[in-house]
Amino acid sequence: MDENLPGTSHLVVVSSRLPVELDDRESWRRAPGGLVSVLEPVLRDRPATWLGFLEAHADPPPEKVVGFELAAVPISPIERKFALDGYCNQTLWPALHGLDDHVEEDASWRRSYEFVQERTAHAIDRVAAPGAAVWLHDYQVYGVGRHLARLRPDLVVGLFCHTPVAARSLAHLRSGRAVAEDLRAMHFIGTQTAEDAESIRTFLGSGDPHGGRVRAMPVGFDGARWLGYRTDPVVTAMATRYRGATGVTAVGVDRVDYTKGLLHKLNAVEYLLTSGTVTPDEFRLVQIAVPSRTGVPVYRYLNGQLEATARRINGTFRRTDGKLVVELIRRQLPQREVAAVMRAGDLALITPVRDGMNLVALEFATLNGDRPSAVVIGAGAGVAPLIAPWSDVVDGGDVLGIADAIRHVLDRPEPDRQQRAAARAAEALRHAATDWAESFLDELLDAGATTAA
Ligand code: F6P
Repeated sequence: MDENLPGTSHLVVVSSRLPVELDDRESWRRAPGGLVSVLEPVLRDRPATWLGFLEAHADPPPEKVVGFELAAVPISPIERKFALDGYCNQTLWPALHGLDDHVEEDASWRRSYEFVQERTAHAIDRVAAPGAAVWLHDYQVYGVGRHLARLRPDLVVGLFCHTPVAARSLAHLRSGRAVAEDLRAMHFIGTQTAEDAESIRTFLGSGDPHGGRVRAMPVGFDGARWLGYRTDPVVTAMATRYRGATGVTAVGVDRVDYTKGLLHKLNAVEYLLTSGTVTPDEFRLVQIAVPSRTGVPVYRYLNGQLEATARRINGTFRRTDGKLVVELIRRQLPQREVAAVMRAGDLALITPVRDGMNLVALEFATLNGDRPSAVVIGAGAGVAPLIAPWSDVVDGGDVLGIADAIRHVLDRPEPDRQQRAAARAAEALRHAATDWAESFLDELLDAGATTAA
């Protein structure tokens, strides 16, 4: 590419992860599920590039693995450690979730983050056509807009926050002011909940040059796909493997993170069994718990605690069908198998302490709208306000509260559970991913036009 020619992409999407991954045979494939399936339709409609971080020594992914251009922002090992494991995952992540006890700060982490932001802005500059829209995703790239304002004032820059945004915790950071400056550079910011939008407005105060163009627009999902899994014979067959022969099967799907409240959930199950409220034959939990961020000590500790708690429960309580009372699945499953796990569930335990959206709740609701299924949802999940009327809302940090909610669900008459399940599925299906993506872009372009006028 001639460095002096302007870029050709009218839309540039930026996230920490590229929407592709290496498979077992070291060849690149489209990443399963997630953001890529949501954005692909809008990316295919116009010349577009997706930028993400990639280890500096890695070969770049070949073009045409997906229906749009890919570009990598190289990250050195020290930047992985300082900017991403450090500043993003140990400073911003816990602060955004309002979990101040987990916040660690180090001036060199922030400096390293700044370098990555500047390099990312230069990478965008190379691919973006004049006047292009730039869609940033999450805190790993909060600082990019500030550099773009200087490098490419012609670009319209928007940010979607997939995480909660706890303004009070952000303001307490030593780098809090810098974060506020980063966010002020955005023409538009989208959040999962109205509470998060308000929180950002408070955080930015009157110094926001774009007049607080912040709006709640909860992310959607591919409802038709999850509806299809209801009758998919492979999903149906696989689901029987996960379902207990007796009693209720509860399910959970999480990345291992202290925000997800996994230990509280297991402790609640242990409490129900120990107190004799349920017998092992009456209750089983299948929990997908994929390890992540294992470069950060607290995550390694959490993984150890999780394994130990499940071992303790399974060592004490046995079922007559030979299945474990708590089955932890520790690897990333293909989406259809995730659907099978969820289809095996009579009850979803989605009980984060604090979480972005937690789309799993909408997926479970859709998949199991035809059965007397139930959802126990943490109040701190972005999805909670959407499904609260037909679900049991708990504080994800309250072990006894979770145990109580499970007991309530078990006691609820079947017709009542069926009616709630149907209503919850109908609500879930109103939240289409493609509508979300289109409305974000409409808002962004509108914000750009207003600023230019
Ligand atoms: O949705 C929040 C988020 O932090 C994303 O930005 C990120 O891709 C995902 O969770 C998983 O985190 P990680 O990439 O650190 O495993």
